[in-house]
Amino acid sequence: MILVTGGAGFIGANFVLDWLATSDEPVLNFDKLTYAGNPENLEALAGDDRHVFVEGDIGDVEHMGRLLSRFQPRAVVNFAAESHVDRSIHGPEDFIQTNIVGTFRLLEAVRAYWEPLEGAAREGFRFLHVSTDEVYGSLPPDAPAFRESHRYAPNSPYSASKAASDHLVRAYHRTYGLPVLTTNCSNNYGPFQFPEKLIPLMIINALAGDALPVYGDGRQIRDWLYVKDHCTAIRRVLSDGVVGEIYNIGGWNEKANIDIVNIICGLLDELRPREDGESYRSQITFVTDRPGHDRRYAIDARKIERELGWRPAETFETGIRKTVAWYLENTAWVDRVQSGAYRAWIDRNYGERNQ
Ligand code: NAD
Ligand code: TYD
Repeated sequence: MILVTGGAGFIGANFVLDWLATSDEPVLNFDKLTYAGNPENLEALAGDDRHVFVEGDIGDVEHMGRLLSRFQPRAVVNFAAESHVDRSIHGPEDFIQTNIVGTFRLLEAVRAYWEPLEGAAREGFRFLHVSTDEVYGSLPPDAPAFRESHRYAPNSPYSASKAASDHLVRAYHRTYGLPVLTTNCSNNYGPFQFPEKLIPLMIINALAGDALPVYGDGRQIRDWLYVKDHCTAIRRVLSDGVVGEIYNIGGWNEKANIDIVNIICGLLDELRPREDGESYRSQITFVTDRPGHDRRYAIDARKIERELGWRPAETFETGIRKTVAWYLENTAWVDRVQSGAYRAWIDRNYGERNQ
């Protein structure tokens, strides 16, 4: 079996669902169930004994050690993290604890489990660390896209904490020989994404008749990848990646935030027109920028294509249409994730921004 951490979150849940849809190898899903972890994301697996869910913290070495010796996984895929830049600006502590200290403790538990293994179990074991393109910092408009050799220059508490975790993973390979793989991926979007992030926030606010808050001038650029393509890339790296290597993953799809918001409005105008006949675009509002806001990320994903034969299956046009349709169809999920704690976050993050 494989052990997945953070498998009740956005990407982790998509990964577990896709894994069990394409393989019969069981998954031990270990998640702390923070505000971002949602067991409802895994509802389709109810009664499926290939999926074992355990609530816990990657920083709890004893708990992880017990699970590793009991279940003897052949691989660990580490998604568990605090993942939202704006939250890291308001409160960096959780990011340091989970992304840095938690990853360190997880590495310690995994090292203690892996070191005494012998033969094929030791040779074949993998620790795959899921990371982000944000560790590379901000690119000038005409600079080439990030390659795996790009220097690290993180600018937010989130990206700095992920950068630190990447360095620890690298060090555990160099120093202890732990068979690690690291992936650095661009912005994901798709089903089950918590609506604090740009794309689901815009869909949900648009439908609720609320303002669509675009930070600064909206010309910041991100590369966007449909989440299921990220999951296939991780599966390829896990099965065929070279130990100790880093693989950048991206969608070959750089877009400015304001263009993303306009595309979402256009799709909603088509699929769920406003009763007054106006376009959802009339709800767009430019608000105070994010401090330290990175201007541009872009991923050069040629290495994973050349060495492992992976390319994204979705274009942005197909992926965003599926995503908007998913949020329109899954109204119960959407309603439930907007709890009191979610409303408190929205008030905190947007209340103090000027229009
Ligand atoms: P998410 O915030 O939706 O989910 C994170 C999950 O980790 C949640 O289920 C949460 O309960 C769990 N978790 C948090 N702290 C934990 C802890 N201490 N112990 C155990 N579980 C814990 O995040 P996501 O968007 O699914 O991102 C998953 C991973 O992918 C992260 O490592 C993130 O840095 C990386 N990543 C995300 C993106 C993106 O666009 N979302 C892009 C590239 C890389
Ligand atoms: P986000 O989804 O938070 O991802 P990240 O910061 O990790 O790239 O934001 C994506 C982009 O959208 C980023 O440039 C910030 C911007 N943004 C807004 O303009 N308004 C918003 O309300 C949010 C959440 C993000």
